Amino acid sequence: MKPRVLVTGAGGQIGSELVTVLVQKYGEANVFATDKVRRPSRGAEPPLELLDILDRQAVERAIKRHGVDTVYHLAAILSAVGEANPDLAWDVNMNGLKNVLDAASSAGVDRLFWPSSIGVFGPDAPKVMAPQDANLNPTTMYGVTKVSGELLCEYYSLKHRLDVRSVRFPGLISSEAPPGGGTTDYAVEIFHSAIEKGSYDCFLREDATLPMMYMPDALRAAVQIMEVEGRRVRLHIGYNLAAMSFSPAELAAEIMKHIGAFKVTYSPDSRQKIADSWPQSIDDSDARKDWGWRPQYDLKGMVSDMIGRLRERQTAQAKDV
Ligand code: NAD
Ligand code: SER
Repeated sequence: MKPRVLVTGAGGQIGSELVTVLVQKYGEANVFATDKVRRPSRGAEPPLELLDILDRQAVERAIKRHGVDTVYHLAAILSAVGEANPDLAWDVNMNGLKNVLDAASSAGVDRLFWPSSIGVFGPDAPKVMAPQDANLNPTTMYGVTKVSGELLCEYYSLKHRLDVRSVRFPGLISSEAPPGGGTTDYAVEIFHSAIEKGSYDCFLREDATLPMMYMPDALRAAVQIMEVEGRRVRLHIGYNLAAMSFSPAELAAEIMKHIGAFKVTYSPDSRQKIADSWPQSIDDSDARKDWGWRPQYDLKGMVSDMIGRLRERQTAQAKDV
């Protein structure tokens, strides 16, 4: 039988593409996309239903109304916005997560996906190939909520028999919805600026290497860990996930292979401090061993696909006017 799936934060960078994948897999009648705010539709996905995760009763009503057995909980505040507004980050990322876990448990949901992040690591974690069991001492409110969120998810898996599955996503690069205020957003903005203006002023230093992943790999990982049989999911905290690591200068050099005249300048701002606190690369051998995780895109493949998609969209828009 197909799962009946509710997605929170479905209008965001991940949600807006994940919903399309879920609809393709399980059918439109089985996928319920919710968000606090309505965004313009890209046409393919079902309309967003308004749902604020800070309203626990409303979350439970929505789960019961749609007969949901599976939740992808994506609503959150990302690292840069969270550092600018730590109270909001705590409220949405912790109280919101607890509301969703409580509502899901009491409405009899079987399985819940909740993404953690490389933000769980702090300056004392190894910079290269940060292991699954590194010390987790983040120096951002975002990271604090991700470490606490991982523990809360594990607690609900143990005590409430809610099967919570989680991964620590690296920075995500995508061609559809804009990113929501993270430290890794430069790696999306740079493509739009390269194509539209031929130049980009980067808010991180040219050598700020970070772990990254292309959205198609991230979506595959989320669905894969949710579908795999339970005995293969040994951890109910976030599994380390990796695909590629690069610096802004390395990304710019790869883009220049497609757009020769592209110029990049660097004006690091407060987000550089967040980037400095994170590892440069991640050891994801547990995810590979336990449930067969393998990324498909490296830097070269991701850049080529991103530029192809954005150029296609530019051509289609030019035809429309
Ligand atoms: P995003 O900021 O693009 O989207 C988050 C969505 O949550 C937005 O549409 C927003 O309207 C919604 N939201 C905020 N407050 C809400 C509330 N009170 N009730 C309901 N909806 C609310 O974020 P994203 O990039 O799609 O990230 C989704 C999840 O993945 C988050 O947990 C994030 O920490 C995690 N993650 C993202 C990345 C990345 O690079 N995008 C990397 C690691 C982890
Ligand atoms: N991409 C996210 C951020 O920068 C990492 O979780 O906030």
